[in-house]
Amino acid sequence: MKIAFVGKGGSGKTTLAAFHARHLSAAGRPVLAIDADINQHLAVALGGPAAVGTMRPLSEHLPAIKEYLRGDNPRIRSATQMVKTTPPGRGSRLLRVAEENPIYAECVGTVGGVRLAATGEFSAEDLGVACYHSKVGAVELLLNHLLDGPGEYVVVDMTAGADSFASGLFTRFDRTFLVCEPTVRSVSVYRQYAGYARDYGVALSVIGNKVEDATDVEFLREHVGADLLTWMSRSAYVRRAERGTVGPLDDLEEPNRAVLSLMADAVDGTTQDWTAFTRWAHEFHRRNAEAWANERAGIDLTTQIDPDFRMGPAALAGAVSHA
Ligand SMILES: Nc1ncnc2c1ncn2[C@@H]1O[C@H](COP(=O)(O)OP(=O)(O)OP(=O)(O)O)[C@@H](O)[C@H]1O
Ligand SMILES: [Mg+2]
Repeated sequence: MKIAFVGKGGSGKTTLAAFHARHLSAAGRPVLAIDADINQHLAVALGGPAAVGTMRPLSEHLPAIKEYLRGDNPRIRSATQMVKTTPPGRGSRLLRVAEENPIYAECVGTVGGVRLAATGEFSAEDLGVACYHSKVGAVELLLNHLLDGPGEYVVVDMTAGADSFASGLFTRFDRTFLVCEPTVRSVSVYRQYAGYARDYGVALSVIGNKVEDATDVEFLREHVGADLLTWMSRSAYVRRAERGTVGPLDDLEEPNRAVLSLMADAVDGTTQDWTAFTRWAHEFHRRNAEAWANERAGIDLTTQIDPDFRMGPAALAGAVSHA
């Protein structure tokens, strides 16, 4: 199950993504957390300020990631022809949530008991050269090739606002949690996100955050309606974490712990739609190719689309083995 955390800047995406990943990991479920924000805070939220992590950023490892995922897909002649939207096809290597592969060996570390990969900081040399979408391109490629099933979780902390609509990334998720404070600006981000998302069948649930009283809940209900799944209150546990101590999950206030269970139930109650996943992967690749990538590559990248290939459990049979 692929899960995105989106919402207004500062609403609590990283905090809730970390809680969700820790909650699932503590239950013994296979989890891969991915920090897809260029401001990398997920490791610290998972483990406190000391949690630096020794893994390599995905964006630094991009050529090798492309080479691995390409496998022996005859439609992709070299890794340099792979762009962020290049979809898997017959011969491509597909990733599982928990397995050993060269990408995870380089780029996945364990922080606060959670397996974590990170896209990488936006660095000075990126300025004026590439927009940050090329940074999160590695995440888009990974998600496109990730074959996860029920009971396995990929938890992605996304950039703020509606930026994820700049690519097809927002269609890669089985469930999207939009974190929303009881404020006009936060619900306006919800409204904008929900508007875009509706046309693409995105399963969207709102998690209220930093709620202090009944009027906050009323406000969220009024503006978010049935999309409001649950809400987390302003938390002393989170304040303590901010001061440097990420306590055991058992120390989180009981009502907020219950929120984590509700969120996990919402994910588990979601049916994966691999047909839609494949359709949007192809569609966004086509758009990306026509908008800029064909010109840059000097070839027609839409020929990378394998019309007979559909992601899903059956695709494994057609993919190369992880030898
Ligand atoms: N339930 C809560 N109770 C108290 N403080 C909270 C709560 N949720 C988040 N915070 C605090 O709010 C601030 C923003 O949270 P967080 O970094 O998770 O937001 P974000 O949406 O990821 O922000 P950004 O857009 O910068 O990535 C942090 O200081 C965090 O500790
Ligand atoms: Mg964040």
